[in-house]
Amino acid sequence: MEGNCLNSEQSRRNLRRAAAILRAGGIVAFPTETVYGLGADAFNETAVRRVFEAKQRPSWDPLIVHIASMEDLASVVDHIPRPARPLIEEFWPGPLTLLLPKSSRVPEIVTAGKRTVGVRMPSHPVARRLIELAQTPIAAPSANTFGRTSPTGARFVLEDLDGRIDAIVDSGETTLGIESTVVDVCGDDPVLYRPGIVTFEQIRLLCADLTLYRDHDDEASSESGRASPGIGLKHYAPKARLIVFDLTGEADAFAVAHRLCAQGGVLGLMAPDGYSGAFEKNSLPFRTLPSEPLIYYWGRWTDSQELAKRLFAGLRELDAAGATVILCPLPADQGIGAAIRDRLLKAARQ
Ligand code: TXA
Ligand code: MG
Repeated sequence: MEGNCLNSEQSRRNLRRAAAILRAGGIVAFPTETVYGLGADAFNETAVRRVFEAKQRPSWDPLIVHIASMEDLASVVDHIPRPARPLIEEFWPGPLTLLLPKSSRVPEIVTAGKRTVGVRMPSHPVARRLIELAQTPIAAPSANTFGRTSPTGARFVLEDLDGRIDAIVDSGETTLGIESTVVDVCGDDPVLYRPGIVTFEQIRLLCADLTLYRDHDDEASSESGRASPGIGLKHYAPKARLIVFDLTGEADAFAVAHRLCAQGGVLGLMAPDGYSGAFEKNSLPFRTLPSEPLIYYWGRWTDSQELAKRLFAGLRELDAAGATVILCPLPADQGIGAAIRDRLLKAARQ
């Protein structure tokens, strides 16, 4: 159902229908400013279980609870630790998830048995209105099959979940394109688990003690035992084999792509505008490719917001066009570039 402009009567009616489905224990995909989420009433254990089933998500990977007001926040947390306050003040509503001490009202299934709950107040007006109309916080992971790229448009949600969910609120493409930043504010020093559009550098200005979680911090743990379970996994992956590279690794990446294509693979390129090197049509690696590659014009190489917004759509479109191997350059490890890099490195894991 379309619910993209809140000022049309049809859209308002559709949102009321979606909220009624949520209140009755249904599961509904909806837009946020980052990616589409698959929502359920956060206090309804049976409804939340259906979200895990629809996504084929393992029960050890906790969900983020989406709220529309500070009253909602009070219902899902036990208390607000001191370092959380300036972050809430500065970045909510918006693409920042805080791990906070959970209240007893939040069922264990939502937090995968953890004592913290991930909470975020989205800024997307449709998401906010839907939560208000549902009159309950909404637990929602990204609306994709577990492990695949997050959906930035309703058609991508349907690609993965058609027939497995009760409704989808279609509000066009999402504006930011990659998932929220995740920060744990319960310990002595806040830890950034997942980089996002709110950058490490921005949070550091308010939290001098912020540290960056590195995968190998947890290497010995099983998936379910990790501090933030979804973080260290192969994730966000297209169906094609994804090969990512820094400038220095360009020649090696093209060599692997050549070999795979010579064996009958179809090459797709995530091609940023203004990125020189091997992606130039007259460069040697490009001219000697066994066949003409499929090209997705990703965006301006210098514009990390545009690259973030178009990243997942590009991977999905190359998949849909038949690419079996995708080559993609890695942005520099700073600001929003760090978030894009994080997703690409995880998506490229074998
Ligand atoms: O932008 C977003 O965050 C999107 C939109 C829909 O809000 N949601 C999203 O959810 O990306 P999901 O489930 O795909 O990713 C949430 C990540 C997972 O890696 C999960 O392990 C981690 O956050 N997480 C959630 N709650 C947690 C908790 N209590 N402790 C540790 N990690 C948690
Ligand atoms: Mg996800």
